[in-house]
Amino acid sequence: MSKPAGLQSLLALIFFNRLSLVIFYSFWFLIGLLVLRKSQNALEAVRYVKAHSASVSLDSLEGSTEFRQLLEEDFPRPPAFFLLNQYALNMTDNFLCNTATLAGAHERFVFVTLDEVARKRIRSRWPRIRVFHWPTPSLYKPFSFAEGAYQTIYLLRSNLALALIKKGKSFWMMQQDTFWRKNIFDLNYEDNMSYDAIFDQLGNGDNSLRKEWVNGANWFIRANNETQFFFEKLSEKLAHWYTPDVGVMIHQCNTWDKPTCAFIPYNVTYSWEWMFSDQSNPPYLLQLDCETNGGTKLMQLGRYGFHFVNPDGTCNNEKISSAKSRMENGTVEVQISKNLPSWGRLQFKLYWYITEYLLWIPVLGEYLRPYLALAGFILMITI
Ligand SMILES: *[C@@H]1O[C@H](CO)[C@@H](O)[C@H](O)[C@H]1NC(C)=O
Ligand SMILES: *[C@@H]1O[C@H](CO)[C@@H](O)[C@H](O)[C@H]1NC(C)=O
Ligand SMILES: *[C@@H]1O[C@H](CO)[C@@H](O)[C@H](O)[C@H]1NC(C)=O
Ligand SMILES: *[C@@H]1O[C@H](CO)[C@@H](O)[C@H](O)[C@H]1NC(C)=O
Ligand SMILES: *[C@@H]1O[C@H](CO)[C@@H](O)[C@H](O)[C@H]1NC(C)=O
Repeated sequence: MSKPAGLQSLLALIFFNRLSLVIFYSFWFLIGLLVLRKSQNALEAVRYVKAHSASVSLDSLEGSTEFRQLLEEDFPRPPAFFLLNQYALNMTDNFLCNTATLAGAHERFVFVTLDEVARKRIRSRWPRIRVFHWPTPSLYKPFSFAEGAYQTIYLLRSNLALALIKKGKSFWMMQQDTFWRKNIFDLNYEDNMSYDAIFDQLGNGDNSLRKEWVNGANWFIRANNETQFFFEKLSEKLAHWYTPDVGVMIHQCNTWDKPTCAFIPYNVTYSWEWMFSDQSNPPYLLQLDCETNGGTKLMQLGRYGFHFVNPDGTCNNEKISSAKSRMENGTVEVQISKNLPSWGRLQFKLYWYITEYLLWIPVLGEYLRPYLALAGFILMITI
């Protein structure tokens, strides 16, 4: 009886040893493949940016008639810039319907249109919105996080910031994937001279480890020598390194004495994480970057009650005021839908989980804090 049992367990031991070896080697083989894949993506993205950087360069902006005309426009208060190509038009329509209900918001907006379709649509549907047309063939396509085109659009954004600062123009940079419950311009962040730049922040509340990390969707820059240096360095890094622009901003804000960076409190701007919190203290601006894909994003917003454009293209103002009062009531419905969250969203969650874990490590976490975000693209598992 004991012999076969002994033999059996010996066989089992060998089998499991083999199995664990196989698993061990397969695991590292897969990691190796991922690293190769990542390096290849990184090289491709950097090459893409290099090949197309001339069309988004500081020189080309400063030398253009479009930019000269922009400077001649009359802005009593600092303008807010939004970038879009034709693939963001539906989202932009939705956003413009939303903000049309807030007095004085549209007067501050400048839409940077990257293709002719986007320019025409904005001009015809929203004739009073200012447009800065900057046709950029390398951006004539939908793009997603960590790709070359994505990096190129942020290089354009940084160079536009730099061109404005050099002309002494303070400005907001904003994104249209945001719901405005109230008008952020009413808070007059431009008049507080205790900082040179103010950014929305990541994380989910004042106890979050990602607090005071630049989120990058809505920020104000005061034009001065310090912010000029900040954006000169940002543009240089974006042109040569595979790193997200917010990663560089976080690093520079955390490790430089100047410019002085400040952060917009969570009761004014908050990411989509607010919907999954207890929904108290509704923010003025709720960023709705809950899905990565433009098409499904609007459908997802529809499910949460944040889609305001009627099938005939008109704005549904009842839906807008209902969304506002649901936020104020803390009754935004977020039943986790039958569809699983997107792959991109899962990655973000995993990424934030790892990040918070690393930041939580005593001493080392504090040391890593300014650098971790720089590795943002590398850590993302894009298969
Ligand atoms: C935008 O919306 C229109 C009308 O609802 C739809 O036909 C079109 O496919 C949408 N475009 C994109 C890029 O999602
Ligand atoms: C100006 O900004 C600083 C930093 O965010 C803040 O502590 C201060 O309360 C603000 N001052 C006013 C008058 O809003
Ligand atoms: C900003 O830089 C310019 C040119 O380098 C210089 O003339 C000016 O004095 C500087 N201003 C301040 C406030 O440092
Ligand atoms: C946000 O919260 C702070 C601190 O509780 C408060 O001082 C400030 O007035 C609030 N801001 C808004 C816009 O509600
Ligand atoms: C907000 O809450 C009040 C009281 O709980 C309720 O009467 C009202 O219908 C709610 N409004 C919305 C839009 O949910």
